[in-house]
Amino acid sequence: MEESKKQSLFVAQLKDTIEEKKKRIGRPVRYHITTMGCQMNARDSEKLSGILAEIGCEEIPTEDADILLFNTCTVRENANEKLYGHLGIVKHFKKLNPDMLIGICGCMMQEKDEVLRIQKKYRFVDLVFGTHNIWKFPELLYAVEAENQRVIDTAEERNGFRDHMPARRKIWFKSGVNIMYGCNNFCTYCIVPYVRGREQSRAAEDIVREVKALVEDGVKEVMLLGQNVNSYGKGLSNGETFASLLERVCAVEGLERVRFMTPHPKDLSDELIQVIKRNPKICRHIHLPLQSGSSKILQRMNRRYTKESYLSLVDKIHRELPEVGLTTDIIVGFPGETEEDFQDTLEVVSRAGYQAAFTFIYSKRSGTPAAEFEDQVPEDVVADRMQRLIALVQQFASKAADRDEGKVEPVLVEEVNPQRAGYVTGRLSNNLMVHFPGDESLIGQMVLVLLKESKGFYYMGERRD
Ligand code: SAH
Ligand code: SF4
Ligand code: F3S
Repeated sequence: MEESKKQSLFVAQLKDTIEEKKKRIGRPVRYHITTMGCQMNARDSEKLSGILAEIGCEEIPTEDADILLFNTCTVRENANEKLYGHLGIVKHFKKLNPDMLIGICGCMMQEKDEVLRIQKKYRFVDLVFGTHNIWKFPELLYAVEAENQRVIDTAEERNGFRDHMPARRKIWFKSGVNIMYGCNNFCTYCIVPYVRGREQSRAAEDIVREVKALVEDGVKEVMLLGQNVNSYGKGLSNGETFASLLERVCAVEGLERVRFMTPHPKDLSDELIQVIKRNPKICRHIHLPLQSGSSKILQRMNRRYTKESYLSLVDKIHRELPEVGLTTDIIVGFPGETEEDFQDTLEVVSRAGYQAAFTFIYSKRSGTPAAEFEDQVPEDVVADRMQRLIALVQQFASKAADRDEGKVEPVLVEEVNPQRAGYVTGRLSNNLMVHFPGDESLIGQMVLVLLKESKGFYYMGERRD
């Protein structure tokens, strides 16, 4: 509480600083946040945006802003490269606008080597902070804006929550809600536990209070966020589980849809499946990351399930919740992956009935155990496997997506279709998109749509209410 009061004082002071700056430059102070990575980062960016809007800045869609923040991801090598690519460009913006403030935050700034590189080689970057001290943003921004300091401030451990930060949503009718921070799983390829710290669940009362406030503010759909939502509640003293939390969230009046991301296959409980079954508000979409279909590789990944236990979980889900759309993540070329291991992955893909799969080439992250494994797979072998995997995924995905053709389903309208005049685009409970005739006034509305024609991974439809 003390800290949040302190940050509020910085917000108040920043309002004056920004007001003065506006007068000096003769126009609004514009900000932009470039967000990389997962929904955790997207939600963090909404919180940063909330602070910037509160102190009187205006958001613009391009990076030539007065305050530019990069919220970074470091899960794969190409995520890091993306940041350095951007920095090369925005350096020139700063030459044209010397007042420009460039800040970098997010997961990559939890890595000492990357922070050092920015500190030494990217002198035009004014502000660096990490995921563990994001809640200090008002104080750090004040030091740069009002006191002209270059601020590099990161913390090794999470030492505060960010719940006091007002969020400014990108989409008015949808919102992410953090239910827990960090991860304890230590999959051997993954950097997330090192950059996001240990798992910590938020109190259910706080989560429900946040959801209620969001609904009052017009939100129809929330996505409960955590690296492993199934372990929600561990460490809380009141016996709360993810399943019981979901029930409490579903009970919030006025809320229409609940999604969650990401459940870990090792501990998706029967209780959770039953809660989903009983609650029509819970969307019929389960993202169940496979990573590999080989039990040997899964063990080396420290995933703590086998090919067989994964497949029997998938069977249970299809049996108990036949309308669920299943999606997954798969890594190709994990150290030691043989052709036989890869065949196991292909087999799971052909049996699991995925509606979509995100496929990633294994990326060596220094600091993780797998980076030290000696049997790294050659690039050409990985590329060949990747091609075969994508072809198989596409073949099965369109089959899974076809099955609701001809049905009438509720759709939450998200946007005017940018490619086709007179059409809008919405999302089904199972996460597939539908395009159908309509106009802007439908955005944020739940409507009934006939799924006239499946196009493999989306539908063309027509309103039916
Ligand atoms: N907590 C989630 C995933 C977070 S990271 C889970 O356990 O599923 C999102 C995805 O990035 C992972 O599912 C994995 O497929 C991929 N990923 C993570 N580290 C990777 C690496 N080193 N190389 C390639 N892909 C990786
Ligand atoms: Fe990474 Fe595994 Fe944690 Fe997911 S569960 S964030 S893959 S360590
Ligand atoms: Fe990337 Fe951090 Fe998410 S590393 S995937 S943004 S938790």
